[in-house]
Amino acid sequence: MVPAMLERFGTFMPRILTLCGSLRAASSNRSLLRAAERAAPAGVVFEHFEGLGELPHFNPDVEAGPLPAPVADLRARVELADAILISCPEYARGIPGSFKNGLDWLVGGPELPGKPVALFNASPRASDAQAALRLVLTTMSARVVDQACIAVPLLAGSREAEAIAVDPELRPILERGLAALLAAIEPPQSD
Ligand SMILES: Cc1cc2nc3c(=O)[nH]c(=O)nc-3n(C[C@H](O)[C@H](O)[C@H](O)COP(=O)(O)O)c2cc1C
Repeated sequence: MVPAMLERFGTFMPRILTLCGSLRAASSNRSLLRAAERAAPAGVVFEHFEGLGELPHFNPDVEAGPLPAPVADLRARVELADAILISCPEYARGIPGSFKNGLDWLVGGPELPGKPVALFNASPRASDAQAALRLVLTTMSARVVDQACIAVPLLAGSREAEAIAVDPELRPILERGLAALLAAIEPPQSD
């Protein structure tokens, strides 16, 4: 059975690209993104971008020439996605440098503007990074979806994605954020 929120998509399967702001192997933000995939209705396609650490330092001179392969890969994945789901930690009350570097590589491209973006937050106390992300992304003309920006309190313990996805208190928060993000996706016009 097709969940009600997907009925308007018909045969179209929305694609969500996740971007994790942490390079840590045991990242709670990555677990949250994997949990989101588990909590999503069948028919939603998730892709998890794992190339953040391969991106060179942003340099406008380099951007002017042929793009480095990891950058071209990131841009291609963003272009293919119908929506972007970000979960990013806070470092020194700001966006981690490696993640801001990834966003900087998207500033000059046409892929992100207008695309719906959700900000998931694995640490409700990390409000400065969330505010900074929102400012950066709206400056980049991404469409940050307010109702899809949620805080999920994971800091109390490191949690596996499956445990988060089945937690009776956390799952409804995930589902609420995902539903809002899916509602912001425009299905392609059928002829
Ligand atoms: C260098 C560094 C700076 C941090 N600064 C903050 C901070 O300013 N505010 C905060 O709430 N947490 C801060 N933290 C805690 C991280 O946000 C927290 O450990 C988060 O879970 C890391 O995400 P991850 O598990 O996905 O790697 C900092 C952690 C590190 C390593």
